[in-house]
Amino acid sequence: MDMDQLKRQAAARALEEVRDGMQLGLGTGSTAKHFVELLGARVAAGLNVIGVPTSEATRADAERCGVPLTTLDEIDHLDITVDGADEIDPDLNLIKGGGGALLREKIVAAASDRMIVIADDTKWVPTLGRFPLPIEVIPFGLGATRRAIEKAFAQCGVSGQMAVRRAKDGHVFVTDGGHWILDAQLGRIADPAGLAKALSVIPGVVEHGLFIGLASSAVLAGGEGIRVIE
Ligand code: 5RP
Repeated sequence: MDMDQLKRQAAARALEEVRDGMQLGLGTGSTAKHFVELLGARVAAGLNVIGVPTSEATRADAERCGVPLTTLDEIDHLDITVDGADEIDPDLNLIKGGGGALLREKIVAAASDRMIVIADDTKWVPTLGRFPLPIEVIPFGLGATRRAIEKAFAQCGVSGQMAVRRAKDGHVFVTDGGHWILDAQLGRIADPAGLAKALSVIPGVVEHGLFIGLASSAVLAGGEGIRVIE
């Protein structure tokens, strides 16, 4: 089975948790896109739900698939957010932001009663850090912000190269919020919660891709079938 089929299977399993009348956070990325498509088919068949997209790309997908949308200004909470991840550890801590949507993804996940992470099982890792950690930053004062981030890395016992993310056309990648992303190759993050805290207090860091204690469950699809981890 190819990776895309596994992603779709994980999305289909998460869809089983969705009930009529729910308010949903809609994640970003190739796995979350499967969820939006499958949800759209259920909406066409009569399911009554409303979604908050975590990116402009997901907004466009949801509109194309006929999923009704709202915003976090119009509703006071979300029942479930379904989103992908770049890495998932056994404590259900995550690295997210490979698709550049980490800021809205974190706001939406934090506003949700439950966050279900959907992924193929290659995303399951014993320790976070093999995937470069995305850090969303304000372009102003980037040199100072980089130095503060390096200091936070040293305090948390990690080190590695950081690079400003570029789009396929070579231009600097700009997030939906108008910010830039630094991707940090750390290899192994022994204390993700500590690093998350240290990064969060740096002026110039808008958000980072460590999602600590936000995921309630992970649906992992692999050659052997589906595993749900809670
Ligand atoms: C986007 C994300 C994605 O959820 C993450 O990159 C996984 O993407 P995919 O499902 O395409 O592997 O965090 O910011």
